[in-house]
Amino acid sequence: MEIQLWKEILTPYDLAVKELLVKFNHIIMEYRSRNVYSPIEAVNGRVKSISSILEKCRKKDIPVEKITEQVEDIAGIRIMCQFVEDIYKVADIIKNRSDMEVVQEKNYIDNVKPSGYRSYHLIVTYNVETMEGSKKIFVEIQIRTLAMNFWATIEHSLQYKYRYNIPDHIRKRLNASAEAILKLDEEMSSIHDEIMDAQSSFIIHANIVSEILNNIQNLYKVANKKEVIKIQDEFFEIYKKNDLEQLRSFARQLDIIAEGYRAQSL
Ligand code: GTP
Ligand code: MG
Repeated sequence: MEIQLWKEILTPYDLAVKELLVKFNHIIMEYRSRNVYSPIEAVNGRVKSISSILEKCRKKDIPVEKITEQVEDIAGIRIMCQFVEDIYKVADIIKNRSDMEVVQEKNYIDNVKPSGYRSYHLIVTYNVETMEGSKKIFVEIQIRTLAMNFWATIEHSLQYKYRYNIPDHIRKRLNASAEAILKLDEEMSSIHDEIMDAQSSFIIHANIVSEILNNIQNLYKVANKKEVIKIQDEFFEIYKKNDLEQLRSFARQLDIIAEGYRAQSL
């Protein structure tokens, strides 16, 4: 196939990956802007390279003209989560969306691969608008924890290095490390609630601090500068005490002061 034709085939996939990255990143942003924990930690995506597509066709006996029907992972999205529980939340979010339809689900978390690979895979169909009109294409979405991703990334690079013939002694160690990753995920889940509390109080703290600093900065433009510097010193004193309640009440007082200046300027 000519390079130009490959480009034409891959363009919709490229668009799909770009659109989906925007959409999934937007989900993260929506959660965070509401100060709510996001089940998605990070997302990345890629279009399969021409050489990998050809390699897959060769291995699976797929004729080149059947690529778009039979190779489901030309467009790939990978979603990373902190906890195993999040993976199922993300899968539900995807299933409830109207812009993609799940056509296949593979749960390699309950059904761990012999290699030790764990992940949750969804094949979805997704519509993109191109010069030739609307196109419905397959996208593979892999959802996994950060720990699963760590293992899979290293295992994949070893597969590549050894051209898919990983020596036995290394295979054994990879299996053992897959076990360790499973334990790690289980351990993290069991302290899940505590971690969630710590994270949300961290986010609340960070938000109050940035709100206070913002207010001080705005006051500096309109109020008596000496007064504002005094307020800032007061803030540093309270900040040092590391007490969320005191910070809260300081933020409220500052709000009232700032409100007063806003009223004056009207
Ligand atoms: P592929 O030809 O690999 O697509 O096989 P498949 O069509 O049967 O799909 P499968 O669900 O087995 O794998 C899809 C994708 O999951 C692969 O392309 C990899 O990205 C990933 N994957 C599956 N198995 C493994 C594994 O043992 N190790 C690693 N690192 N990744 C894996
Ligand atoms: Mg596949």
